[in-house]
Amino acid sequence: MMTPDVSNAISFASLDDSLRKQAEYCNALLHTGEGKGSDFLGWVNLPSSVTADFLNDIKSTAASLRRLADVVIVIGIGGSYLGAKAVLEALGNPFEKRRPEVVFAGHTISEDYMAQMMEAVKERSIATIVISKSGTTTEPAIAFRIIKQEIEKRYGVDGAKERIVAVTDEKRGALKSVADAAGYKTYVIPDDVGGRFSVLTPVGLLPLAVAGIDIDSLIEGARDMERATAADVPFDKNPAAQYAAIRSALYRKGYKVEILVAYEPYLQYFAEWWKQLYGESEGKEGKGIFPAGVIFSTDLHSMGQYIQEGERILFETVISVSKPHRELRIEKADNDGDGLNFLAGRRISEVNRMAELGTMLAHVDGGVPNIRLEISEISAFNVGSLIYFFEKACGISGYLLGVNPFDQPGVEAYKKNMFALLEKPGYESATAEIRKRFAK
Ligand code: PA5
Repeated sequence: MMTPDVSNAISFASLDDSLRKQAEYCNALLHTGEGKGSDFLGWVNLPSSVTADFLNDIKSTAASLRRLADVVIVIGIGGSYLGAKAVLEALGNPFEKRRPEVVFAGHTISEDYMAQMMEAVKERSIATIVISKSGTTTEPAIAFRIIKQEIEKRYGVDGAKERIVAVTDEKRGALKSVADAAGYKTYVIPDDVGGRFSVLTPVGLLPLAVAGIDIDSLIEGARDMERATAADVPFDKNPAAQYAAIRSALYRKGYKVEILVAYEPYLQYFAEWWKQLYGESEGKEGKGIFPAGVIFSTDLHSMGQYIQEGERILFETVISVSKPHRELRIEKADNDGDGLNFLAGRRISEVNRMAELGTMLAHVDGGVPNIRLEISEISAFNVGSLIYFFEKACGISGYLLGVNPFDQPGVEAYKKNMFALLEKPGYESATAEIRKRFAK
C-alpha cells in the first residue's frame, strides 16, 4: 500500500491535529454526500460496484472492434480523453507497433492534426469510439462528423453500426440522439460521475480494453485503494487524506504551484490527467493550487533552474517507481574516454534513482517542499490504485479549500465567445458584443 512520504514537506508546513481532523471529516463528507457537489459522487464507490458482467461486456465489444480494425480512433476531450490516454501511455510500450493501434481525436481543433490522421488511416481499416458525456462538446463533435462520414463511405451505413461505439449520457445530448437513431452500441456515463472522474467507467475502460490493457486488474487496484481510503479509515492510515492535508497545509503557507514529477517518460500523460483533475476541481473562486507536471531528468534541463532558484511558491509531488520492468546495465568499455567506467555493471535505473534522490535533496535545500509517492512497479493494478488515490485526495482537497470540486463553470466562457465568433444561431447578441470589442 502506497503511503505519501511527507517527511520533506512538514518542515515547510505542519500537519496539525486540526487539519488532520478536517481531512478526516472531508473524506467522510464524500461518503455521506453532505458536502458541495454531492450530485457528482458516483465515482466514490464506483470500483466496488463494477461487476464482472459489465467488464465482460466491455471486453466483448473491445474484442469485436479489435477484430474489425487496424486503427481504433478514440474521440473525446478533457475527462473523455485524458484518462484513457494516460493509462495507455503508462502501461504501453511506445516503440511497439500494435494492432489495433489506438489513436486519439477530438481533443484538438487543429486542422493539420485531423488531416494528418485521416491521411494516415487511409489504407487501414478503422473503427471509432466516440466519447462525450454532454454529447454536445464541439471539438469531439467535429471529429466525429468527419470520422463517421469516412466510415459510412467505406463500409456503408450498416457496416458503420459495428464500427462505431458511443459512450455518452443516458438520456441527453446530440450524441445520444445520433447513436440511438443509427443503432450504435452505446455505453452510459453515469449521471453522477463527472468527466474528470470518469476514467474507471466505459470512458476509460473501453479504449483500454481495445488496447489490450488488463481492465480487471485496473479496477482491482482501484478497489484496493477505495478500501484503503474508506470513510472510517483514520487519518494516519488514509493515504488520500494525508496527501490532501499536506497540500492544503502547504497552500496555506503560500506554496501555490504543485509540480507532479515523474522520472519515467511513460507517466507524462498521467501528469496531464492529474493536471485536469486538480486544475478543474480546485481552480475556482480565485483560489486553488496551480497544477503543473514535469518529467525528470528531461525537464531538469529545462525547468530545473526555475525550480531550484525561482519564486518560492512551488512544491513537488514525486511519483517514484521502484522497479523497472526491464533490465539494462551499463557495460565496461575498454577505452574509458567518456569516463563512465565507474558505472560499469550498474543498472540504468540505479542512476535514475540517484538522480531522483539528488534532485530531491537539492530542491528541498533550495526551498521546495517535497511529497513522495513510491509505487513498487507500474502495473494495471497499481495504476488503478493511483487513479483512485488521486481522485479521492482531490475530493478531500476541494472540500478543505472550501470549493465545490465537482463543477467547472469556468470552462464555459471560451465556448460562448467561440460560438459568437462563429456566428452560431442563438448567439447573435454575443456576436454583436464581440464585434464592438474588436472594432475599438
Ligand atoms: O471534467 C469535465 O467535466 C470536462 O473536462 C469534460 O470531460 C470535457 O469538457 C469533455 O466533456 P464531454 O465529455 O461532455 O464532451
